[in-house]
Amino acid sequence: MTIVTGYPNLADTGRIIAHRGASLVAPENTLAAFRAAREQGLNWIEFDVSLLGDGTPVIHHDETVDRCTSATGSLADLAAPDLATVSAGVLHGGAFATEPIPTLDATLDLLENAGMYSNLEMKAHDQPRGRLAGIVSEALKTRDWAAKRIIVSSFNHDELGEFRELMPEVPVAGLWIGPDEGWRARLAELRAAALHVKYTHLSQSLLQEATSFGFDVRVYTVNDIGVMKPFRDIGLTSIITDDPPSFLEDPDWAAWAARS
Ligand code: G3P
Ligand code: MG
Repeated sequence: MTIVTGYPNLADTGRIIAHRGASLVAPENTLAAFRAAREQGLNWIEFDVSLLGDGTPVIHHDETVDRCTSATGSLADLAAPDLATVSAGVLHGGAFATEPIPTLDATLDLLENAGMYSNLEMKAHDQPRGRLAGIVSEALKTRDWAAKRIIVSSFNHDELGEFRELMPEVPVAGLWIGPDEGWRARLAELRAAALHVKYTHLSQSLLQEATSFGFDVRVYTVNDIGVMKPFRDIGLTSIITDDPPSFLEDPDWAAWAARS
């Protein structure tokens, strides 16, 4: 894939991760947003995986399609053939007007072809326990690169545990808004590689404790380049952002981002 901007190619440092793809410049969680992230110089994206009613895994954040597509209603009322009639690009319009909700398979194809890495976040919504984890693991098992280039996370730690049992070779990250008191035990139980938290809930002591136990620490969703500065040089692993260019245009963040 050609890099069309003047931003540095961050290759696989994984310091800056495009949240739902480059979702400020393209419709969130679409292939266009994933390509846009690559064109911004990133090799890492975060995206959300949900299930349609027929069990097709798709890239979509909400339980309904109301907020950011041309349709309304529950994802659970859609099946794979319906994807051709729904636009995930209506809010952006223009060239994005026909952008579909991508399937997980199409997304994995793009990642494979572009040599990209990702944080795959499972959104189990109201699905029976284990259904999403089973379907995601089946998709990943067909890709021999998955364990090296994908981190799976979820707010639903039971679902993450189900995934862990099915694919122990793929790293997982415990995802919280603000971690509860049992976060360390939960990560240990999951044999997780990382702690993912909302940036407003990160403290220096939490970061130090997590890194002292060997966990990577990632924060979401950071769109202000000032707010995470105190954490930059004391062990923060990655920032998940809608706006990668604002970090890449700042010399200090760009230098941090280039560090492996
Ligand atoms: O995975 C990090 C972040 O995406 C979690 O929040 O709601 O944007 O999926 P959300
Ligand atoms: Mg997410």
